[in-house]
Amino acid sequence: KNDELPSQNEGHELAARFYHHVLMNTEQGKQAYDYLEARGVTAELMERFQLGFSPDQPEVLKGLLDKRGFDFDQMNEQGLLYRTESTGELRDRFRNRIMFPIRDLRGRTVGFGGRTLGGAEPKYLNSPDSPLFHKNELLYGFDVARKAVRRENAAVLFEGYADVIAAHKAGVDNGMASLGTSLTDRQAQIIRRNTERIIICYDGDNAGQDAAWRAGEVLEKQGLNVEAAMLPAQTDPDDYIQMYGPDRFQKEIIEMALPFMSFKMQALKKDKNLQDEGDKLRYIEEVLKEMTALSRAVERDFYLRQVADEFSLSLDALKQEQYRIFKEQG
Ligand code: CTP
Ligand code: MN
Ligand code: MN
Ligand code: MN
Ligand code: MN
Repeated sequence: KNDELPSQNEGHELAARFYHHVLMNTEQGKQAYDYLEARGVTAELMERFQLGFSPDQPEVLKGLLDKRGFDFDQMNEQGLLYRTESTGELRDRFRNRIMFPIRDLRGRTVGFGGRTLGGAEPKYLNSPDSPLFHKNELLYGFDVARKAVRRENAAVLFEGYADVIAAHKAGVDNGMASLGTSLTDRQAQIIRRNTERIIICYDGDNAGQDAAWRAGEVLEKQGLNVEAAMLPAQTDPDDYIQMYGPDRFQKEIIEMALPFMSFKMQALKKDKNLQDEGDKLRYIEEVLKEMTALSRAVERDFYLRQVADEFSLSLDALKQEQYRIFKEQG
């Protein structure tokens, strides 16, 4: 696909400006504004990320698009409108939601994530894929983070929109997020084009940690040096920054990120009791299996020695065991 081809995103630009105006300047947007402010999102951040609010009315964006002469079928295809199942009428897709414009690398708005204010499901509603919006190859915040990513030769990958914004506020301005789905090869390639090093900083819950493992493998496959930051269980980066502040987030989470192999070793320990003989053997087998994926002999040797020391085993025995596993894997 050719990135240079101009797609028609004027509807999205108009929508982003409209939602942003509602949030910043109107009575209708006040509840959302207060909500964001209470979560630590300053007006400056609302500007930088062009946050917005979609009013709780069925046809307000539709009316605006109509006045400006936009083609309804195209706006439907691009997901700003949708057809109701009952009558087939076109309506605004996003209602009563905090709007996060999703931009491509050049800063053009091509989609939205909308967070419910009233507790409606789903918590986040995202634009559907369309000729304009390809979820698989976009990363939230990359347009804002790109300069910092290049400068620091590192990127930080988060799960959520709110995490990117909170991190940015905390001085971690090289942060981005995948769009609610598993990280794709394509997204990893795009990151790789801009940096060699990535720190995964996903939520501390099990879902987040499992997703971090999968994302790490995708990123390694594209040749990135992967590290993973660990958060306390039940905490996400945004929560952590709210509770402990930017300084501790930088020093105790980002700077303490582990090499991906060490992260996997920690994760494999989690559901085991290493005093138990069976668990211990299972742990060693699982770790050795992961190590066969390491491309550099020096690295393999380093971690092998670590396991040998930890469990008072001979390097020789571990190497034999690793060879057995390697052959089993084919
Ligand atoms: N997400 C989504 N659809 C959902 C739930 C989540 O697309 N129904 C995506 C969003 O991009 C969201 C991310 O997954 O930002 C992480 O989800 P979660 O951790 O549940 O939300 P938070 O970002 O922590 O949102 P908040 O703090 O506002 O609750
Ligand atoms: Mn503004
Ligand atoms: Mn989560
Ligand atoms: Mn979260
Ligand atoms: Mn959160």
